[in-house]
Amino acid sequence: MKFINKYLRNLSPYKVASHKVWEVSTDERKNILKLDWNEASIPPSPKVMEALLDLVNDQETYYLYPSTYNAEIMDLLASYCQLPKENIQYFASSDSLHEYLIRTYVSPGDPILILGPTYDNFRLTCESQGGVVYFYDYNEDFSLNEEGLIQMIDSTSPSMIYLCNPNNPSGNLLSVSFIRQILDKCKDSVVLVDEAYYEFSKLTMAHYVLNYDNLFVSRTFSKAFALANFRAGYLLSNENNIQQVSKLRNAKNFTSFAQVAVKAALEDVDYMKNYVEEVLSARAYFKNELQTMPFIKNVFDSHGNFLLVEFSSFEVKMKLFNQLSNHNIFVRNLTHSKHLINCLRITVGTKSQMERVAKILHTSLI
Ligand SMILES: Cc1ncc(COP(=O)(O)O)c(C=O)c1O
Repeated sequence: MKFINKYLRNLSPYKVASHKVWEVSTDERKNILKLDWNEASIPPSPKVMEALLDLVNDQETYYLYPSTYNAEIMDLLASYCQLPKENIQYFASSDSLHEYLIRTYVSPGDPILILGPTYDNFRLTCESQGGVVYFYDYNEDFSLNEEGLIQMIDSTSPSMIYLCNPNNPSGNLLSVSFIRQILDKCKDSVVLVDEAYYEFSKLTMAHYVLNYDNLFVSRTFSKAFALANFRAGYLLSNENNIQQVSKLRNAKNFTSFAQVAVKAALEDVDYMKNYVEEVLSARAYFKNELQTMPFIKNVFDSHGNFLLVEFSSFEVKMKLFNQLSNHNIFVRNLTHSKHLINCLRITVGTKSQMERVAKILHTSLI
């Protein structure tokens, strides 16, 4: 089609994993263990359910647009992030806030540097706005040649730098001091630190938004808070940046259902913290199990709710991927980088869920 936006003509899509869970009946869904999108593996706090039931009965919320400024959520977020409200804005997901950031700060032709392989949806969003993406790749073991990255920054002068921390899909973590080095060096670039998995890594750049006006931190309610279906995320940055990004933000997109769910989840942070502890201990258990399996070459150290697992060959990986699928366990087959060709990414849920996966892998026909 002649009139299509020229940046979309050759755009390679973000590869969405099969979403089998939505193709089956509610009863069949109960047997599925969905470990392919790094969502939480249990429902959110029961307080979320209670609050939603009240909302369902309040039919005015169906035909009115939602509140465009929820002061209670802002207060709760300020206390959760330990930052003034002026440094925070919430959005209908962190994917959505990435789009607003790129529309605010990137003009067609601007160079954008992505430390990869990483969350590929960000690349898509940049390219769709005409941003020219340069990748700087981690080493094959997901260690980083820090000097090399700095040199690439010098040679590309990026308008924006994307650092996913911890990184999806590898789970490795950049240090605060290295990110500060980048912030000091790139004063005119937007440095976006994607902290989608912050609750699991417990390492954050959040309070540095008070010191650096080029720092942007994105977070989500889709992972540790178990609210992926509600589409809720937030941005932390300095006050002026928050105002700039908020110019484009469509405040009507954050539904009352999302608002009620987020508020209730933030009122029960202990529930989330308990789930995180459960996942961290299940991750240690599952990693140990995987390391005893002869067909597994490597399990990367992870600071997220997932493990990147490298198999002895592509054929072995595909066999196991299919065997797990046949048992209604869905994991992510990664294909978007040569680093990952023999790898699967497996979301870590509760201990009993990971025992189910380990049992199948132990008895697999390899
Ligand atoms: C690194 C990273 N950022 C952002 C997202 C998307 O988050 P949201 O559900 O808030 O759009 C994901 C989801 O997998 C992710 O892994």
